[in-house]
Amino acid sequence: MEIKEIVKEKYGQAALRATSGGSSCCGASARLENCSSVDPITSDLYDALQKEQIPEEAVLASLGCGNPTALAQLTAGETVLDLGSGGGIDVLLSARRVGPTGKAYGLDMTDEMLALARENQRKAGVENVEFLKGDIESIPLPDDSVDVIISNCVINLSADKAKVLREAFRVLKPGGRFAVSDVVVRGDVPEQVRRSMEMWVGCIAGALQDSEYIGKLAKAGFEDIDIEPTRVYSIEDARQFLTGEGIDVDAMARLVENKFMSAFIRAVKPTSKECCGPACCS
Ligand SMILES: C[S@@+](CC[C@H](N)C(=O)[O-])C[C@H]1O[C@@H](n2cnc3c(N)ncnc32)[C@H](O)[C@@H]1O
Repeated sequence: MEIKEIVKEKYGQAALRATSGGSSCCGASARLENCSSVDPITSDLYDALQKEQIPEEAVLASLGCGNPTALAQLTAGETVLDLGSGGGIDVLLSARRVGPTGKAYGLDMTDEMLALARENQRKAGVENVEFLKGDIESIPLPDDSVDVIISNCVINLSADKAKVLREAFRVLKPGGRFAVSDVVVRGDVPEQVRRSMEMWVGCIAGALQDSEYIGKLAKAGFEDIDIEPTRVYSIEDARQFLTGEGIDVDAMARLVENKFMSAFIRAVKPTSKECCGPACCS
């Protein structure tokens, strides 16, 4: 509960910063001026063509660590759900991809983020979008109702990731795709980092090991699981997100260099078993 309340408070503040024209950044670098241009996790995720399609305010409010809409396969008419939709950037981009016969839902627990996202939707003039208030650990949508789940640097914030993945599995239709950007770790996270609440909020301390992520997805029922690194963080990047946390980055260089990465995580909810004959279908 404590983690959730802190996450809500921090992202509420980030939404208000974005609303007042400032840039919003993930965790540790949020205190830097113009952090979005220097933040190693959040900067330069979207190309010019994508930015042209949505209001500037939605781009400025981006707090992700990847670009799931660029990597996810989306088809006209499909229903997409973005877990932890923030200022709405990936929902608005997905809405364009699935077109007027499709629908893009954004789910977020933070009131200020929902207000910002709805304002960005109004500016974008898209109608096939709905922002829902709720928790990704208890998704307010029926079973088998979504074709594609996207998310951008949110699942690492949850204290119960297995529950989030079970919920994602439940709401996906059979054959539905999980296509998520997240920070993941190779090997162990140093204990000092793990203990920092600021770094949990900054998408670092709560990150799963790649093997744990695969295990939890498989346990939830997913198949065809794949983790593709999209950005591996160097010691200089690590310096940005660890500085100010009272951590001697150089002393623990070996423990952090190239261990944190943004990754694109895919998986599929299996379709029901093919009917193989009268006996097995009865
Ligand atoms: C790092 S930001 C990412 C926002 C957005 N995906 C983007 O790329 O800009 C995390 C967002 O997830 C939301 N969030 C975090 N934990 C959540 C939870 N358990 N349920 C719903 N929303 C959550 C926060 O309110 C915040 O808007």
